[in-house]
Amino acid sequence: MRRKLVAGNWKMHGSLAENEALLSGILAGMGGVKADVAVCVPFPYLAQVQAKLTGSAIRWGAQNMSQQARGAYTGEVSAAMLKDFACTYVLVGHSERRAIYGESDELVAEKFAAAQAAGMTPILCVGETLREREGCITEAVVSRQMDAVIAKCGVAALARAVVAYEPVWAIGTGVTASPDQAQAVHAYIRAKVRELDAAVADGLIIQYGGSMKANNAVELLGQPDIDGGLIGGAALNAEEFLAICRAG
Ligand code: PGA
Repeated sequence: MRRKLVAGNWKMHGSLAENEALLSGILAGMGGVKADVAVCVPFPYLAQVQAKLTGSAIRWGAQNMSQQARGAYTGEVSAAMLKDFACTYVLVGHSERRAIYGESDELVAEKFAAAQAAGMTPILCVGETLREREGCITEAVVSRQMDAVIAKCGVAALARAVVAYEPVWAIGTGVTASPDQAQAVHAYIRAKVRELDAAVADGLIIQYGGSMKANNAVELLGQPDIDGGLIGGAALNAEEFLAICRAG
């Protein structure tokens, strides 16, 4: 049985005061949550989040990292630095990184490999744009994004990773993929992995992301191949986030 994983992606939101209130609210409401829970926070707040969450059931991570180990890379943050703050997870290949910062499939695969080499669990984000969905190439796009990682790291590496299927058209738009639409892509991803390694496929946590809220989480998380959520906007409100966690 796969455990559900609900992870908040705070994006570029928060402040010391806001984070304190948000985390206090989440910690206070964790009773009755069966899912694994994590928050992926902006780099400057990792120390705050580590101090606040150490000893709790909630894990934490970052939203991006460098593929490089160290050196003259102004503005970058390495995997070892994230490990210094006891990050369990790091997002790689979020669609905002791919679209706004031009991250290629190959670069995302390098970041994935570097995260694992440092002992973290990468959350590999994949998903198609609206144009790609309308062009009926959703599966081809997701497949290409997965293949870059499998080619570099091997399918066995997915046993130490999480995949997040996030249709780009559903992120931050309030338009959620229907449970059927999401389930179909999740099943496709799992079947694709199963062709290479059945055990890895059966154990792989595949989260859904894209306007998941308290009012649609039960239905989405009830799908057989949806193993959790990657939550943006709704992760910034403790009650809303907890309601999603309880749905898992
Ligand atoms: P959203 O973002 O929940 O605000 O749509 C999800 C994400 O980008 O991870």
